Amino acid sequence: MTPVGILAVSHYAPERVLTNKDLEKTLDTTDEWIRSRTGIEERRVASDEETTASLGTVAACRVLEKAGCAAEELDLVIVATMTPDSILPAMACKIQANIEAVNAGAFDVSIACSGFAYALSVGAGYVASGMARKVLVVGSDVMTRVMDWTNRGTCVLFGDGAGACLLGEVAPGYGLLAQEMGSDGRGAEHLKIPAGAGAQPADRKGLVQKDFTLQMNGREVFRFAVQVMGNSAVAAAKKAGIEAEDIDLFIPHQANNRIIEAAAKRLGVPKERVFVNVNRYGNTSCASIPLALSEAVEQGRIKEGDKVVLVGFGGGLAWGALVFHWGGVPGN
Ligand code: ACO
Repeated sequence: MTPVGILAVSHYAPERVLTNKDLEKTLDTTDEWIRSRTGIEERRVASDEETTASLGTVAACRVLEKAGCAAEELDLVIVATMTPDSILPAMACKIQANIEAVNAGAFDVSIACSGFAYALSVGAGYVASGMARKVLVVGSDVMTRVMDWTNRGTCVLFGDGAGACLLGEVAPGYGLLAQEMGSDGRGAEHLKIPAGAGAQPADRKGLVQKDFTLQMNGREVFRFAVQVMGNSAVAAAKKAGIEAEDIDLFIPHQANNRIIEAAAKRLGVPKERVFVNVNRYGNTSCASIPLALSEAVEQGRIKEGDKVVLVGFGGGLAWGALVFHWGGVPGN
């Protein structure tokens, strides 16, 4: 198997900031409630012109530039999203065209907030098996477009953004060490957007606006998240043959600070080694992990040789954890 790692990571977040104080003006909520229950202070909102494909394209261009990789070198473009611009075409095809990755195949991965973890795992599989040399993995979502802005239990939680990783061969011993993916479809009811696709098309009688927005049983998702975030990270670390004290940085899906704290506790990683930016972005779904990873790298929180654990969870229900030995990038 070819050792496969992250050659570069980048992100893009829309400029417009929506604070908790802004939300107080239109919703029966408070800055204090949102901060204390979630850790979120503000989130980004895409402009009318921005879409999942456009945010993802910016993140993709940035990562190629960082890696010094020409778009023609890409064999595959994988996009994780739960808010595609349209049901057809796939966002990966749009981004592949935008960046002119003329030699690349392209497809989307749809598994809600676990999407980036799954896409990374699939992309890594292509490189490890020798079926591809360079794979671009993008996570992009405009969650603010699927919110019911009258539902204080959901709309305060989410934001928009994109992130991208370039996967390729690294030095032996570096890169992806282990992964642990899982799903429990029995919990599908807890997180859903019921209408707008095959089962309930837009012209179905009786549908109302809310049916096209994200609906969530917050308490159930919370309970599920605390359990699977910790457990899957522990299982992935075990497969990688590392202990909690070997983990230099834990980068969990940024949904809620309380979930992150509980997962870190279960994993046995102290808070100095947990990366958190949910306070500034809210839950950006498929963008959450690459956005956090990219900021962690920018802030010098990850160095050559570090062990980094990424873990996502979300609708499906589903989850995924990956352990990387950071670095070993040719030419660095
Ligand atoms: N402002 C003020 N009050 C609120 C708000 C708000 N924004 N939202 C809910 N409340 C109220 C509720 O109405 C309820 O009032 P009641 O007791 O009078 O009925 C009270 O606060 C407590 O509600 P709970 O739901 O019990 O609050 P909880 O402490 O569980 O926090 C939260 C709610 C933040 C949603 C939490 O359950 C959570 O984070 N769940 C996980 C969500 C998540 O991670 N989702 C991402 C999934 S990823 C994906 O795939 C999309």
